[in-house]
Amino acid sequence: MSLKINDADFTRLVNYMEQKFGINLKQKRVLIEGRLSNTIQQRGFTDFTGFLNMIFADKTGTEMINLINKLTTNHTYFYREPEHYDFMVQTALPYLEQSKKDHKVYIWSAACSSGEEPYTNIMQTIEYFSRKAAAWTIEELATDISDRVMDLARKGIYHQDTMKNLPAGWDKKYFKSVGNECFQIQPTVTSKVKIQKFNLMDPIPFKARPFDIIFCRNVMIYFEKETKEALVKRFYDVLAPGGFLFIGHAETIDRTNSKYQYVKPAVYRKPLDVK
Ligand SMILES: C[S@@+](CC[C@H](N)C(=O)[O-])C[C@H]1O[C@@H](n2cnc3c(N)ncnc32)[C@H](O)[C@@H]1O
Repeated sequence: MSLKINDADFTRLVNYMEQKFGINLKQKRVLIEGRLSNTIQQRGFTDFTGFLNMIFADKTGTEMINLINKLTTNHTYFYREPEHYDFMVQTALPYLEQSKKDHKVYIWSAACSSGEEPYTNIMQTIEYFSRKAAAWTIEELATDISDRVMDLARKGIYHQDTMKNLPAGWDKKYFKSVGNECFQIQPTVTSKVKIQKFNLMDPIPFKARPFDIIFCRNVMIYFEKETKEALVKRFYDVLAPGGFLFIGHAETIDRTNSKYQYVKPAVYRKPLDVK
């Protein structure tokens, strides 16, 4: 049975999600009712009020994160938005190869979900540098707000359906079969990725070393304009000069109000001539 959310509950939920997580649910009343009705009843509540009281009372925050997962989506897959990987091979990695005297590449997958994105980034970077004479150190930080998806990323076991877009041969090279049409990604890839919980609304603590490429794809779609602008400014501060920001192809950054150079759809760059 579908439950209706009253105005007071709708307002408190929408305001909290926006202030705490940047997520804009103002137009999502029907989605909220549709996605939560079953859960509410399975958890023994008869209406939204009791359910939301329980969520707001949970001091661990786990219930709130589970709620976010229900209302947004963790959907992802390997080699998503291949235009970014073409751009990496043709432009971003050759630039890093020329410019980085320390032979180290540092990537951030911000909103990594279950790991398909950060592991694709590593496989693509390994592929590129493995053909070069010099040895390169490849490292990546992968963050998300949801413990559930980060646990999946740590396990690194994927159904073959998520791997359909991978270039030919990568399945054999970087995965081993574990049965039931599932494959586990190899330590050659996972060992290069550090997975850590991080809410994109918080100040960025990862300042020790600038990132060469930041992926923040298919999460800002839920954010209000101001939230998004503030976030891409924070990314700017932790990007190396000449570094790249990749956003989802369904997302945009207001070019009139940004220090980034626009490179092409969904690709932005921090200018080289800044400190
Ligand atoms: C659709 S997935 C995108 C995964 C991957 N970047 C891609 O493009 O395939 C969106 C992810 O954003 C995460 N997320 C939502 N709000 C967040 C926030 N405030 N801070 C960090 N992660 C957040 C969700 O948990 C989810 O895993």
